[in-house]
Amino acid sequence: MVNAADIERVLIDEQQIAERIKEVAAQIDVDYQGKMPIVICILKGSLVFCADLIRAMKTPVTVEFMKVSSYGASTTSSGKLSVALDILSNIENQDVLIVEDIIDSGHTMAALTEMLRTRRPASLRIITLLDKPARRVAAVEADYTCFEIEDEFVIGYGLDYAEKYRDLPYVGILSRSVYEN
Ligand code: IMP
Ligand code: MG
Repeated sequence: MVNAADIERVLIDEQQIAERIKEVAAQIDVDYQGKMPIVICILKGSLVFCADLIRAMKTPVTVEFMKVSSYGASTTSSGKLSVALDILSNIENQDVLIVEDIIDSGHTMAALTEMLRTRRPASLRIITLLDKPARRVAAVEADYTCFEIEDEFVIGYGLDYAEKYRDLPYVGILSRSVYEN
């Protein structure tokens, strides 16, 4: 059980998430008509979102997982990408849809898309549950964004703070008392 005092407030509730995913899934179905994209779920944060998204879509997909992070990004636009888990399938000439939990500075997505493009997919798009445009450093934009949010640290619905809170069914703002002492 999560301590209620850890959550400042609910930012996006379960129903809002479900409704928005239904809308975006319908748009994806139109855009990918007649195709079977490879969905790449970016671990761990996108786990919950990806599970709901692929079930809301009517488009048939295959699913792959990657675990990546970016580091040392101060001077270059995209930074260095650390790949802890890579996909096993060949994406050459395939339609690829990256599923991300949140785009913050943009370093991770900029570096990841740069790396995946070298594998020559037929198309490469990004869907993100959340976008914090105010914090963007690297030039990267999602093709599909469920929610734009302010510069707040959020948790829940897959997103964590120190590996906690991923299991919350909503997106909430973390209380400052949790990380400020
Ligand atoms: P970026 O490379 O700065 O865009 O960082 C993206 C990654 O940072 C996301 O995939 C998250 O893992 C993490 N992140 C950024 N903002 C938040 C947040 O508000 N809550 C939880 N994780 C976050
Ligand atoms: Mg992440």
